[in-house]
Amino acid sequence: MKKVVVLTGAGISAESGISTFRDAGGLWEQYRVEDVATPEGYLKDKALVIDFYNQRRRQLATVEPNEGHRQLVRLEKYYDVQIVTQNVDNLHERAGSTNVIHLHGELTKVRSERNPRLISDIGYKDIHVGDLAEDGAQLRPHIVWFGEAVPEIENAANLCETCDYFIVVGTSMNVYPAAGLIHYVPRSSRCWLVDPNAVPISRDITIIKEKAGTGVKKVVDELIAMSEK
Ligand code: APR
Repeated sequence: MKKVVVLTGAGISAESGISTFRDAGGLWEQYRVEDVATPEGYLKDKALVIDFYNQRRRQLATVEPNEGHRQLVRLEKYYDVQIVTQNVDNLHERAGSTNVIHLHGELTKVRSERNPRLISDIGYKDIHVGDLAEDGAQLRPHIVWFGEAVPEIENAANLCETCDYFIVVGTSMNVYPAAGLIHYVPRSSRCWLVDPNAVPISRDITIIKEKAGTGVKKVVDELIAMSEK
């Protein structure tokens, strides 16, 4: 089967009711990144950071995948589909995608602040200062904060190097190394971008200037038609 890699960002979850970061009214208009998405912010006020992710985890329990997520699942019958998401929500998995890499971590997981390998799945529950991992260290959100390593980036780059098709959905391509993944995609691979706004991309790519809920279906329909030729 031919390989499709899909790089997604907050925009694919927008129609599910989850705020993006840099759109008007986005999360970074409500909070300072330094306060809630950096190791320094966490050390300065653990309770504030833990509560920020508790609130987002609680919200995640109340929302559903949207048509954008669901269309990508449809593609799995025809292609080897690998989702590489910057999102920390679990909407790709809940829609039924089977191969999902989370570059920036997962809201439903926490880990020891001392040993990053001690990860546990807490679903949509809160954690608090004083909740400890099995090594006795404080539990922290299993999120990649600005300035922290992105453990999955090499795996994602390898997948991009061998993909036949590459789809970008709902990301402003502002944050590296995720945004740099497009440069690993072979020049011969066909690329699409689904986003209602303009996104600066420096390569030949088919732009679908629509929301994910309708735009992803157009790419999926075209790819399915190509697979049936
Ligand atoms: N459908 C598709 N795209 C949409 C929709 C929608 N309904 N609504 C908004 N968008 C697009 C916006 O036009 C924008 O290009 O989604 C993109 C969202 O961009 P950002 O808010 O910057 O989110 P993202 O690119 O995912 O941010 C990357 O930054 O803060 C960090 O770790 C955080 O993973 C995040 C990373």
